[in-house]
Amino acid sequence: MALKFVIFAVILFAVPILSYKPVVLIHGVMTGSSSMEMIKLRIEEQHPGTIVYNVNRFESWSSLESMWHQVLEIGMDIANISASHPEGINLIGYSQGGLIARGIVETFPNVSVSTFISLSSPQAGQYGAGFLHLVFPGLVKDTVWQLFYSKVGQHTSVGNYWNDPYHQKLYETYSVYLPYINNELPSAKSDDFKANLLKLKRLVLIGGPDDQVITPWQSSQFGYYNGNETVIEMREQDIYKEDRIGLRTLDKSGRLHIVTVPGVNHFSWHMNVSIVDDCLLPYLD
Ligand SMILES: *[C@@H]1O[C@H](CO)[C@@H](O)[C@H](O)[C@H]1NC(C)=O
Ligand SMILES: *[C@@H]1O[C@H](CO)[C@@H](O)[C@H](O)[C@H]1NC(C)=O
Ligand SMILES: *[C@@H]1O[C@H](CO)[C@@H](O)[C@H](O)[C@H]1NC(C)=O
Ligand SMILES: *[C@@H]1O[C@H](CO)[C@@H](O)[C@H](O)[C@H]1NC(C)=O
Repeated sequence: MALKFVIFAVILFAVPILSYKPVVLIHGVMTGSSSMEMIKLRIEEQHPGTIVYNVNRFESWSSLESMWHQVLEIGMDIANISASHPEGINLIGYSQGGLIARGIVETFPNVSVSTFISLSSPQAGQYGAGFLHLVFPGLVKDTVWQLFYSKVGQHTSVGNYWNDPYHQKLYETYSVYLPYINNELPSAKSDDFKANLLKLKRLVLIGGPDDQVITPWQSSQFGYYNGNETVIEMREQDIYKEDRIGLRTLDKSGRLHIVTVPGVNHFSWHMNVSIVDDCLLPYLD
């Protein structure tokens, strides 16, 4: 009788503890996994029992290696993690890490993601001095296309998602990453990219007007500049209207969550406990 009670109690209390899926964190450019420790600790504290994997590849300078290289390497790790968690995982990428994460979701059918949270990531590209100067203080945004839109420039991650509204033809000619994962340019993988993104249970796009690094900040939610630097929001963009990667389908089925938070600088998103509590935890299952 007493043993039965103990077993019953263990089951009763173990179930809610074990019910959260593992979380994988991917850090931003020019930093490493230590920058994501606060998020990891807060998730573990608020959702006890959650296993949190904090990716420590491509830290510091190696975060500038090309996007495809990072997607394939980190993707293999996460495929392994996913294989040992058949119930699925949740994925959170901060800044450049959110754009790597999306590449992984679109590319790896064996990475089974329930919720994918993009935390202030340049999903529609980047055209601004703030971001550029994080890495290349001497370069000027108006002319850096000459470097990035070349074979050599495409060896850097930032070149892979530099999206100069005044040089769209060159962007499409040279960029090997963003126009492909956005299905702006068709490839043999286009259908897979969309099908894989559509397997998400939730896509959460977090960003805000006081970011000051992601430019335009709406890029964190698939908004972007038109040809004269007017920002066109996601739902007016072809990527959405033509449902090129499934954003419209996710939206219409209630799976796309657009979260806009004012008052947060780019370097604070992953350091701010109330962002974790209010914008990350509620979406984790
Ligand atoms: C994935 O797991 C397999 C088997 O456990 C192991 O041999 C392989 O090295 C792992 N790959 C990565 C990228 O961790
Ligand atoms: C996941 O798929 C990739 C190819 O898409 C493959 O190379 C890798 O071995 C797979 N990993 C696991 C753990 O199944
Ligand atoms: C910029 O483009 C928008 C939409 O294409 C247009 O309405 C606006 O007049 C343009 N502004 C300038 C200054 O050209
Ligand atoms: C932290 O996030 C809250 C919103 O959740 C925001 O109001 C506040 O300004 C942020 N603080 C910092 C230091 O970024």
